[in-house]
Amino acid sequence: MAGIETPLTDVLDLDVPVVQAPIGSATCPELAASVADAGGLGMLAVTWRSPERTRELVRETRRSTDGRFGVNVVVDDDAKSVPTADHVAACLDEGVEVVSLSFGDADDIVDLVQDEGGVVLQSVGSADAAREAAEAGVDAVVAQGWEAGGHVQSEVATMPLVPKVADAVDVPVVAAGGIADGRGIAAALALGADGAWLGTRFLATEEARAHDLYRERVLDADETDTYFGTLFDEGWPGVPHRVLRNSTLERWQDAGEPPRGERPGEDEVVAETADGDSIARYEDSLAVPEVTGDVEAIPLYAGQSAGLTESVPSAETLTERLAEETRTALNRTRSLLDASDSGPET
Ligand SMILES: Cc1cc2nc3c(=O)[nH]c(=O)nc-3n(C[C@H](O)[C@H](O)[C@H](O)COP(=O)(O)O)c2cc1C
Repeated sequence: MAGIETPLTDVLDLDVPVVQAPIGSATCPELAASVADAGGLGMLAVTWRSPERTRELVRETRRSTDGRFGVNVVVDDDAKSVPTADHVAACLDEGVEVVSLSFGDADDIVDLVQDEGGVVLQSVGSADAAREAAEAGVDAVVAQGWEAGGHVQSEVATMPLVPKVADAVDVPVVAAGGIADGRGIAAALALGADGAWLGTRFLATEEARAHDLYRERVLDADETDTYFGTLFDEGWPGVPHRVLRNSTLERWQDAGEPPRGERPGEDEVVAETADGDSIARYEDSLAVPEVTGDVEAIPLYAGQSAGLTESVPSAETLTERLAEETRTALNRTRSLLDASDSGPET
């Protein structure tokens, strides 16, 4: 099948301008490889993984695909224990060629990656941040709008953000937030983006490491079922995030939305990780398959695009489907133009 070529596919050497966004510990070699096999970019999110584990995941992904994949590291030190440079150095040492950075400054990392022949992407939430990233020398920017699931860098919606960012920089722009099908990708391209970055949609794939209950909640959700705020702040304080409405959120809202320190059940342990570590009610933990306990009560990160997410295909099938839908949507737009051009003169 013919690809869709854009400046992003040129920079990243892809067949289609579709990126499986880093979705924390729900990413895994199977997911990234499946997307890469379909000509998109698969991503491993490694922030909360040790450099040793990161190396294993990179090797496993490489063994599974000849396609393109990259890694994502959150730069903000408040989010993690491993310094960004250590993570990036481990990845480069394993031959990783695409590094995406979010929530922080790419300045110190750009040379590190590009000196090894790699490509650097930075997530931004405004045109100013995009300009700064471009000045730092990144190869592409990811404009993440407010609709996005997970931790969110912007209070501007994708629709106004993407054209502002596209006007601000000369490097390729990837649109993120609120995109779940080919209509969204075509719209992003029309807004001036060169590709799309989909997180919530890829949660509902066969390969993503999402707990069954979490995946079901994403499938059931309408576009109105998310909350944006700073409620689940233990572990990474003060950073806004978007999650599905759940019992913890409802209890807090019923209590009048009290501040940190006075929230209901603040000292409660609600679930447990596979290693037996406890997960507190307001902790920024991810509902991976091994989590036990009251999984519904922990943050179920998802964007407004959950409303458009209704099936669980393999990530390869999804990537192919997204490309096909994008073609259909672009053709539809073109046919509107053709029909207007050939219409009767008035
Ligand atoms: C479960 C989940 C985990 C995420 N983890 C990360 C992460 O580790 N690093 C990052 O830069 N963004 C992360 N994000 C944000 C995504 O990369 C992406 O920007 C977002 O999902 C796009 O919006 P969408 O969910 O509407 O597609 C996460 C999003 C979700 C839903």
